[in-house]
Amino acid sequence: MVILKSKSEIEAIRKACQVVAECHRTIAPLIKPGITTNEIDRIFEDIMMKHGAKPYQKGYKGYPYATCASANDVIAHGFPSNKPLEEGDIVTIDTVAELDGWLGDSAWSYAVGKISPTAEKLMRVTKECLELGIEQAQPGNRLGDVTSAIQRYAESHGFGVVRDLLAHGIGRDLHEEPTYMHVGKPGKGLRIKEGMVFTIEPMITEGNYLIRIDPDGWTARTIDNKLAAQYEHTIAITAEGPQILTLQ
Ligand code: MF3
Ligand code: CO
Repeated sequence: MVILKSKSEIEAIRKACQVVAECHRTIAPLIKPGITTNEIDRIFEDIMMKHGAKPYQKGYKGYPYATCASANDVIAHGFPSNKPLEEGDIVTIDTVAELDGWLGDSAWSYAVGKISPTAEKLMRVTKECLELGIEQAQPGNRLGDVTSAIQRYAESHGFGVVRDLLAHGIGRDLHEEPTYMHVGKPGKGLRIKEGMVFTIEPMITEGNYLIRIDPDGWTARTIDNKLAAQYEHTIAITAEGPQILTLQ
């Protein structure tokens, strides 16, 4: 069942989302060769604490950190570590903040110093996939309009769309309905309605879209060890169209 949110509930979710947005705004200029993802994790947690918010991912299904830090061939759910990021890396930082019982979720990919043209193209196309998906998230459209726009654009650049990790409704719970893959057909799937709040979070791969999980039980990598990128916003559907609640 999809839980529709009232305007005041959407405003409460926006507040949680804006804590996440501040986390991303803060670290964007700090991501350089030498910084560790543990340092980034600490900064995210401090910003959440400062706002009276909680790092919701910490302890969620046993996940140990405030953020997921997924570098290069890691698609998602990588553990932050003390290994300094290196020139040429790309790293996706994903987090969820809880404020007054409401959740906000956003992931963003960052370039570490100068990156390869391929990595640059992958990041650009992935961000454009998110933007094209959001554009289609209009009341009256269907989820297939969102997902097919993403899939068509990614594949037109020769990239893969990860199927095994899903986007989701969000509110008081992290994974509400609808949960959906970022692939589909126009005009198919659930009808998008005013009051829905969900994530759009395409994970796009340089090569094969298949994933494998490390022995830690979390870290999801590309099966061919090629690069992956991800951009994620939490959006609310209003009568006027989609609103990006995690807008930075
Ligand atoms: N932010 C992630 C999502 O989009 C959640 C990561 S799972 C966690 O669903 F366990 F790391 F929290
Ligand atoms: Co997320």
